[in-house]
Amino acid sequence: MMRRFFASLLAGGLLAGVGAHAQDTLAPLRFQSDGVFGSIDLAAAQRGFAVYQGVCASCHGMKALHYRDLEALGLTPEQVAGIAAGVKLADGHAATPNSRFKQPPLVSRGGAVPPDLSSIVAQRSGGTHYIYDFLTGFGPAPAGVTLLTGHSYNGAFPGGQVAMPAVLHDNAVAYADGTKATTAQEAADVAEFLTWSADPNLSTRHAVGVRAVIFFAFLVIVAVLTKRRIWRERG
Ligand code: HEC
Repeated sequence: MMRRFFASLLAGGLLAGVGAHAQDTLAPLRFQSDGVFGSIDLAAAQRGFAVYQGVCASCHGMKALHYRDLEALGLTPEQVAGIAAGVKLADGHAATPNSRFKQPPLVSRGGAVPPDLSSIVAQRSGGTHYIYDFLTGFGPAPAGVTLLTGHSYNGAFPGGQVAMPAVLHDNAVAYADGTKATTAQEAADVAEFLTWSADPNLSTRHAVGVRAVIFFAFLVIVAVLTKRRIWRERG
């Protein structure tokens, strides 16, 4: 009985391993930031910023971020200065690395205002995976569903009708690192970028956690050995 349990556990583990390799096709989807050992995939998050900047920033702000924060994603100060210089703020001046991300004009669509995306991953159950499902969930409305004005059908959005249009499509951005910009790739990358913005210290926090677990495991071993030594029968 027990042996069968371990065998299925092992098979499950192997299958999970196979799943991780299927990442190229993005299905089944696995993010480097998933799980307690997860860390931010900086290359993906950098591409995700390109998607945000090129596609989402016209409607969604990210109040919590300054351009200089992008250095934490591995961009050089020169690259950050270049990105900021390319942004024209509402007062007509170019942004600097110390500027906050440009706020888009507050425009409501179909009665809904685009939410700030700084910490949207933390605010939605399903986190990174929900953002991916949402961005790839647009499609034709099923028969019998009448869309409200200004709404699109999205199977991942609660209720199925969302006041955001489908904005991602193949080659919606050109990636600097040569990665093929498929819709799924863009969705996954921007989801990883939004995971970082919602929790910039995720990688450090997880690394400290792992070290703490190792340290406490070591402490338990020392305690057990000490106890054995102290209580050893003499004679
Ligand atoms: C044309 C404007 C527009 C663009 C461009 C746009 N959005 Fe939206 N987005 C909206 C609006 C409006 C809503 C609110 C929808 C609602 O509540 O019905 C929304 C909602 C969202 C939500 C919240 C969904 C929820 O569960 O409440 C997320 C996440 C999101 N957008 C991500 C993105 C990302 C990522 C991009 C870029 C790839 C993007 N949006 C581009 C207008 C836009």
